[in-house]
Amino acid sequence: MLLEIKNVTVRYERIEALKSVSLRLNEGSMIAILGANGAGKSTLIKTISGLKHPIRGEICFFNQRIDRLSPQKIFALGIVQVPENRKLFPRMSVLENLFMGARALKKKSVLKEELEGVYEYFPILKQRLNQQAGTLSGGEQQMLAIGRALMANPKLMLLDEPSLGLAPIMVEELFHILNKINTSGTTTLLAEQNALKALQLVEGAYVLETGMITISGIAEDVAKDKMIIEAYLGG
Ligand SMILES: Nc1ncnc2c1ncn2[C@@H]1O[C@H](COP(=O)(O)OP(=O)(O)O)[C@@H](O)[C@H]1O
Ligand SMILES: [Mg+2]
Repeated sequence: MLLEIKNVTVRYERIEALKSVSLRLNEGSMIAILGANGAGKSTLIKTISGLKHPIRGEICFFNQRIDRLSPQKIFALGIVQVPENRKLFPRMSVLENLFMGARALKKKSVLKEELEGVYEYFPILKQRLNQQAGTLSGGEQQMLAIGRALMANPKLMLLDEPSLGLAPIMVEELFHILNKINTSGTTTLLAEQNALKALQLVEGAYVLETGMITISGIAEDVAKDKMIIEAYLGG
């Protein structure tokens, strides 16, 4: 088991944003966390990456407790987050942004190899290397945010709503690339409001509703669930 979340409860001052959430993720697989705005998707991702700590429950990564570790330690273990709204350095070039992704790892020697890997997935980034990140289109910025994460050679990539604000055709292209990245060995956890699209991409899915997992299973079954269809797929 690559990641195991056991009965995790997370609070902000006033509210319990996650209520006894449990989840399992096998090495090599790709799953989705689905849910409406405010359901707790970002909180779950931030709790895995160490930006929030649970008040109850545990998170294990390759059977090691990580829920008390700092974000830096968790990053060093190979868990890399692609944050909501990309969080690029808009005044820096595409290349500088990519290097930022690997910076904390401090191993300069293999960076060339990582860069080539990123260009293979996102050839458009290679054409834009010296352009300021802030001048890229929304889709290209999302590609850069994912490319930056890949520079760290993640064992687990956490994506927070990568499809947000993108045109359907761009979402299609992006998800196709995410599938390739996963197929070549990167375990992926994808938080999405876009349930219809996400369920076509992932193996399994968990549905969060106001901080609780209400439905989980293989993607095919979740897609058939009546509640999901009504809530997200407009059925
Ligand atoms: N920094 C914060 N302080 C207080 N409440 C927050 C904070 N961030 C999120 N919340 C609340 O936690 C709940 C879950 O939010 P979030 O995890 O961002 O959901 P989602 O990503 O699914 O939209 C919401 O009720 C939200 O208002
Ligand atoms: Mg969110």
